Amino acid sequence: MERGCSSLHLLLHHPFFVAAAISLLFSAFPITTAAAAGSGQGLMGVNYGMKGDNLPTPPEVISLCNSRNITKVRLFDPNAAALAALQNSGIRVILGSYNEDLPNFAADPSSAIAWVDANVVPYAAAVNFTYIDIGNEVIPGELAAFVLPAMRNIDAALRSAGISIPVTTTVSTAVLGTSYPPSQGAFTEEASQVMGPIVSFLASTNAPLLANVYPYFAYAGNPDEIRLDYALFNTSDIVVQDGSLGYSNLFDAMVDSVNSAIERLGGAGVRVVVSETGWPSAGGGNASTFDNARVYNNNLIRHVNEKIGTPKCPGNDLEVYTFALFNENLKPEGTERNFGMFYPDMTEVYHVDF
Ligand SMILES: *[C@@H]1O[C@H](CO)[C@@H](O)[C@H](O)[C@H]1NC(C)=O
Ligand SMILES: *[C@@H]1O[C@H](CO)[C@@H](O)[C@H](O)[C@H]1NC(C)=O
Ligand SMILES: *[C@@H]1O[C@H](CO)[C@@H](O)[C@H](O)[C@H]1NC(C)=O
Ligand SMILES: *[C@@H]1O[C@H](CO)[C@@H](O)[C@H](O)[C@H]1NC(C)=O
Repeated sequence: MERGCSSLHLLLHHPFFVAAAISLLFSAFPITTAAAAGSGQGLMGVNYGMKGDNLPTPPEVISLCNSRNITKVRLFDPNAAALAALQNSGIRVILGSYNEDLPNFAADPSSAIAWVDANVVPYAAAVNFTYIDIGNEVIPGELAAFVLPAMRNIDAALRSAGISIPVTTTVSTAVLGTSYPPSQGAFTEEASQVMGPIVSFLASTNAPLLANVYPYFAYAGNPDEIRLDYALFNTSDIVVQDGSLGYSNLFDAMVDSVNSAIERLGGAGVRVVVSETGWPSAGGGNASTFDNARVYNNNLIRHVNEKIGTPKCPGNDLEVYTFALFNENLKPEGTERNFGMFYPDMTEVYHVDF
């Protein structure tokens, strides 16, 4: 049976991937991301997070991206200085919104129109927007019910402005009740109620679902059960055999568990974009080292640039955004301040080839 994988297949991963633990890990973890482009260019995107009081100016950051083969970024919110700097840069942009705006967007089409008029219309001619990202990791949670109506109103506002940009939302792996093996991936019952109609909307508008996927947290929570080389893309061994599909890295397994969950809701044509992934270089236990972060990010980029997709969705160009460009000193202490590939002075934390 042919299954839509412009899209998905299911991977079930490690049983120790306990939903509750993951849910806690991820809900405590703020997010960010970016994306890719054409031939001769790297495919990787980066998250341009700004929770720091010592970061370079947006024009300096965009120059850095251009000098390093970074062709896609994700903005967490519509920062006007960043959008101005991105004009005519050739860099493609996922544009996020503030989660606290969701209830207004959902309740009032005119607030969605005002947001689009302020943050998209003025830049649409000179900024190459990939997706508008409404709601970052709010499912499950008290804002979850606002996500789809907000997406619909933003989508309608874009259409009435004559602008064609897919509208989507970002989920964390906290939406998954089952993630192992990847083929058994499924949303929690609570998340399914919200995700079902969202997946239908994404299918009808040909938009992807954005997902934040962190093998680091899975590994750090279960170092005795998960092989470090499997988490770091540092082995070619098939570590998890899931039916006919073999997995040699945890990242693919996690992405395919999201693919399976989407498929289970009837969304087999909806692809996954990895809006965040990364590995901290410090601030946590013995897994958060410079060496592990360097190996993870370089292997990830090599994997993405190979354009081989995942075992469930082979050949599907996977669009991936690393978290993050900079170490951000206003984030909570610990690993969260140490996901950057660059220090605020734009020197490298470790070398990454994009
Ligand atoms: C937007 O990006 C796509 C993919 O890289 C490219 O084909 C297109 O020409 C770009 N459009 C503009 C206006 O830069
Ligand atoms: C940019 O990425 C592409 C695709 O991986 C690669 O072929 C090229 O060498 C890279 N360029 C630089 C300057 O790193
Ligand atoms: C890292 O710490 C974990 C948990 O304390 C332990 O199980 C593991 O053996 C340690 N690994 C190394 C390489 O020290
Ligand atoms: C990754 O694999 C290479 C080759 O086997 C090895 O030299 C290196 O130590 C590994 N790095 C990590 C961080 O596991």
